[in-house]
Amino acid sequence: MKKSVFVTGATNGTGFAIAERFAREGYDVFIGSRSEENSQEAAKKLADKYGVFAKGYQTKIFDEDNVKEIFADIRSMGYLLDTLVLNAANLGIGQVSLDVDINDFMSVYNTNIGWNFMMAREAAKQMKEKHKGAIVFITSNSALRVTKNRCAYCSSKSAILAMSKSFAVDWGQYGIRSNCVLPGMIKTERWQQNLNNIKYCLPNYTPIEDIAEFEDIANAAWYFGSDESRNTTGAELAVDGGMLAQLTPDIERELWK
Ligand SMILES: NC(=O)c1ccc[n+]([C@@H]2O[C@H](COP(=O)([O-])OP(=O)(O)OC[C@H]3O[C@@H](n4cnc5c(N)ncnc54)[C@H](OP(=O)(O)O)[C@@H]3O)[C@@H](O)[C@H]2O)c1
Repeated sequence: MKKSVFVTGATNGTGFAIAERFAREGYDVFIGSRSEENSQEAAKKLADKYGVFAKGYQTKIFDEDNVKEIFADIRSMGYLLDTLVLNAANLGIGQVSLDVDINDFMSVYNTNIGWNFMMAREAAKQMKEKHKGAIVFITSNSALRVTKNRCAYCSSKSAILAMSKSFAVDWGQYGIRSNCVLPGMIKTERWQQNLNNIKYCLPNYTPIEDIAEFEDIANAAWYFGSDESRNTTGAELAVDGGMLAQLTPDIERELWK
């Protein structure tokens, strides 16, 4: 049976880079997206480029029937999933803590905790059958030090650390490992717009004067998701240019001299 990986939120950016990293290693790839069309397009790109089998799935958030249908389909094609990378996230931006509507607040938890849990549990049932599997969460360094008015996002990313440890402890006996990647800032379009802004020049926030490329996160996901890390579970790896290690940002520093 060929090795396989499922990556959520994988039609572009970080998620696509993670899916591509596994395809490059010969894994068959399942791409999750809220858009069926985009998921299929991304899967086709990987299949064409790497000659692997790839398939897109529409993921309906917090819909357990949808989660079960996806994993039943994977099983019906002869796979028991090897690796699940939970990359998709509800960012909960603009939720001012004193005013936020509780339904908006909980929608962040529905995605980042409830739905991630359903996906992991269904994947774990397949992994248990072959006594081997890896679950990788893409959480955030804001699980440890928070950003203003992102209470739902930061606290959910923090809860993921305990959820991952719970999986490591509960499912280790079935050969299943669970680990977390903690990105700091990634060069998404959002951050690219700020790269040259003097005051908020984001690389100033990291001792190494740079923030992550998509591939940096993909490499960490590959490490935790593959046998490279076969004796590691319940662990966390920050990929944040040292941001967590530094108490105050050096915003006066002159960069790229
Ligand atoms: N960007 C950063 O600087 C940064 C920093 C720290 C941690 N992270 C974490 O790293 C991961 C990837 O970050 P990113 O910036 O590349 O993510 P992103 O583009 O904001 O989101 C990744 C994917 O998640 C899905 N998604 C977005 N909003 C969603 C929602 N409300 N409910 C369910 N799915 C949703 C989307 O996929 P579909 O539309 O295809 O469903 C999206 O393409 C995330 O877990 C993020 O929290 C990012």
